[in-house]
Amino acid sequence: MVQGKIAIVTGGSRGIGRACVLDLARHGAEVWFVYQSNREAAEKLAAEVTEQGGKAHPVQADVRDFERAGQIVDEVLAEHSRVDVLVNSAGIVRDGLMGTMTPEQWGEVIQTNLTGTFHYCRAVAQQMISQRAGSIVNLSSTASEFSSRGQVNYAASKGGINGLTHALAKEFAPRRVRVNAVAPGMIDTDMSAAVRGLVGDKIKDLIPLRRIGTPEEVAKVVTFLASDAASYITGQVIRVDGGLSLGGY
Ligand SMILES: NC(=O)c1ccc[n+]([C@@H]2O[C@H](COP(=O)([O-])OP(=O)(O)OC[C@H]3O[C@@H](n4cnc5c(N)ncnc54)[C@H](OP(=O)(O)O)[C@@H]3O)[C@@H](O)[C@H]2O)c1
Repeated sequence: MVQGKIAIVTGGSRGIGRACVLDLARHGAEVWFVYQSNREAAEKLAAEVTEQGGKAHPVQADVRDFERAGQIVDEVLAEHSRVDVLVNSAGIVRDGLMGTMTPEQWGEVIQTNLTGTFHYCRAVAQQMISQRAGSIVNLSSTASEFSSRGQVNYAASKGGINGLTHALAKEFAPRRVRVNAVAPGMIDTDMSAAVRGLVGDKIKDLIPLRRIGTPEEVAKVVTFLASDAASYITGQVIRVDGGLSLGGY
């Protein structure tokens, strides 16, 4: 579905981003993936992709750094003169109730999740526009609509990603560049470990499918949206949450 495409994935060293790197590479894309600090995990992943006969290149960057985003896109273009797919998966949580949340906790989450997404969309914009082709997939969250206590920063960042996705999809559509988001519910990664540890098995009672999702189940939807199979889909936020957002009992 993405055979021969050139892809950039942020937050590729772990969790959902890692699963996206593996899935895109398995389907024939060549992937540049960004990690922040986890070099060992990034190199292990690149080796795993090579073993499977694919191509993946780890690059270190902080998505809060706009210049670095431009450098990475330039590196990709120097080798291939095109970039077909961008997946914005880098994200963090810094939970806390409003009464005690610091401006640093607020800023770190907004800068990483929302501004980081803007940085990489902006960095690929000119190239995708001039190619008249491209697909961007942003990682949102069901928390953008159905948020929990103690997550005003995270919910705001993900609500912002939904808005960015809708607005950018309209802007890019005449240039045949598609922009979508995937909103996972509770997925088995490092990020959700604290919540899962705190709430235990009770969390499954809130999920109609009665289980936590896997990063691979999210990655499959990302690969679909990135691929030409989704050629008539743009501006959508697709929930991958086992029915969590349906509410009720
Ligand atoms: N897990 C869930 O239940 C869930 C639910 C809804 C939405 N999501 C969203 O899905 C995305 C992926 O989440 P996840 O669960 O896979 O998270 P994760 O397992 O904690 O992995 C986070 C990834 O983001 C990278 N990262 C964090 N800050 C960065 C920065 N400033 N610059 C560059 N890279 C940075 C990390 O790099 P290092 O390895 O180098 O630290 C890592 O690769 C996030 O946007 C998250 O909000 C997750």
